Amino acid sequence: MNDPIAADLQRVLPGLIAAPDFPYEVTAVDVVGRPPYNPPEQVQRKFVGASYQAAYEEAARFVTRADLWSRTHGRGEPGPVIDFGSGWGRISRLLLAGMSSKDLYCLDVDQAMTATVNVSLPGVNALTVDPYPPTVLGDRSITRVLAFSVFSHLAEPAAAQWAQEFGRLLVPGGLAHITVLDHVFLDQVAGCQEAVRAGTADSFATSLAQMFGDPQALRQAYQAGELVYGDPGDDGARQGDFYGWAAAPRAWIERVWGDAGFDLLEWVPSGELFSQAMLCLRRR
Ligand SMILES: C[S@@+](CC[C@H](N)C(=O)[O-])C[C@H]1O[C@@H](n2cnc3c(N)ncnc32)[C@H](O)[C@@H]1O
Repeated sequence: MNDPIAADLQRVLPGLIAAPDFPYEVTAVDVVGRPPYNPPEQVQRKFVGASYQAAYEEAARFVTRADLWSRTHGRGEPGPVIDFGSGWGRISRLLLAGMSSKDLYCLDVDQAMTATVNVSLPGVNALTVDPYPPTVLGDRSITRVLAFSVFSHLAEPAAAQWAQEFGRLLVPGGLAHITVLDHVFLDQVAGCQEAVRAGTADSFATSLAQMFGDPQALRQAYQAGELVYGDPGDDGARQGDFYGWAAAPRAWIERVWGDAGFDLLEWVPSGELFSQAMLCLRRR
């Protein structure tokens, strides 16, 4: 008999049987009692532009404000939470200080990152998602979604579809805490273009300058309520057709998230908490 599955099993069985035991007891993550491993510094920097103290302090400002809004605008009850675009799990580590890992869903398009989260934060629900929804999660199954530095990077179709998906997933009264880039980013782009002309641009400024066209046209589009997007090209799982640099005006957020069933409750401009604006939206 030529059974290909049996042949596959024969190939893996000896290795499985001889593999060493875990060198430690595997239990769910406990960020207070046993702080989890950090990823290497270059991974931290690639995903959040900072590492260790600066990276965690920025995340703490985000989570602290989200918790404040949860008390003032939310349902005041615990429940399942999504860390959308969780990366290596910086935001998730802080959320775990105040909630059970079984209620935390860490969603990312990059399987290396969901694997990192699975290994360093055992017990959370790390899911690798497609660039566009839907997810496998159920209607009205989530009380809060947090997305730090994700909607600041999504192109319009992806951003609009994920807003719709969170409208499907959140319970009525559920909150979305997201960050976006605002008009200050357009000034940054114009500054980069100026630096290129002056011959003083570094590689980041040069790449940002090249992604966008005429700064006046960008400002007009933004003021007319359009999401302004620059495509940097592909970076592994993050392809340039959905992941780059995005500035979203208030009118765009109100229209697109409004269509998805949300009211915009709070908007902290960029520069106050961190370099991106922080928003609170509530599911009707
Ligand atoms: C700038 S990083 C922020 C990581 C994390 N939120 C933090 O602040 O530590 C953006 C993350 O969003 C993920 N991402 C990009 N597009 C996505 C999509 N369409 N769906 C889910 N995650 C996505 C990226 O892979 C990356 O891990």
